[in-house]
Amino acid sequence: MEEEDYVFKVVVIGDSAVGKTQLLGRFTKDEFYLDSKSTIGIEFQTRTLLIGGKRVKAQIWDTAGQERYRAVTSAYYRGALGAMLVYDVTSRRSFLAAARWLADLRARADNSSIVVMLLGNKADLTNSRAVDSDEAAAFAEDQGLFFSEASALSGDNVEEAFLGLLKEIY
Ligand code: GTP
Repeated sequence: MEEEDYVFKVVVIGDSAVGKTQLLGRFTKDEFYLDSKSTIGIEFQTRTLLIGGKRVKAQIWDTAGQERYRAVTSAYYRGALGAMLVYDVTSRRSFLAAARWLADLRARADNSSIVVMLLGNKADLTNSRAVDSDEAAAFAEDQGLFFSEASALSGDNVEEAFLGLLKEIY
C-alpha cells in the first residue's frame, strides 16, 4: 500500500443548506473511500491526489449538523490548513453570514495562516441568483480569501475549487 506524503485537513463551513455536504460528496465520490466517522459525530472524507508529484491526502471535514447550534467547536478547526467557506448564490443571507463564519474561524483556528476559499455554490440556479460574482469577489479580495463559484448539482467547478485550495496549501 502506498503511503501519502502529506495529509491536509480542510474544513467546510457555512450556513445550513448552502450545499456543504453535496459539495463534499461531489468532490469525493467514486474515487474515494469513506474514511471514518469519529465518535464525537464529526465526519470527514478523504481523497488522495497527486500535487507537485507528491501524494497529498485531503482530509475534508463536514460539520455534521453542528452549525445548527452556531457553535462549531475549536476541535473542529484544530490542525486545519484550509477552509472552504460556502454560501449559496441564491441566498443573500448565507452570503452575509460568511463574514460571521470568517470571524469565527479566525477566532478559533489554531493556524493563523489557514488558507480560506470563499465558494458560492448553486451557480446552476441562474434565475434565482441573489449575490453577484463581482460583489463576492470584492469581499474575498478585501478579506484576503480566494474566491470561486461552483455547482455541486452539475459538478461544475467543484473539482477546480477544491484543487485550487489544496494547491494553495501546498
Ligand atoms: P446542513 O447539513 O444543514 O449544514 O446543509 P448543507 O450545507 O450540508 O447542505 P446540503 O448539502 O444538505 O444541501 C442543501 C440543499 O441544497 C439540498 O436540497 C441540496 O440538494 C441542495 N443543493 C446543494 N448543492 C446544490 C447545487 O449546487 N445546486 C442546487 N440547485 N441545489 C443544491
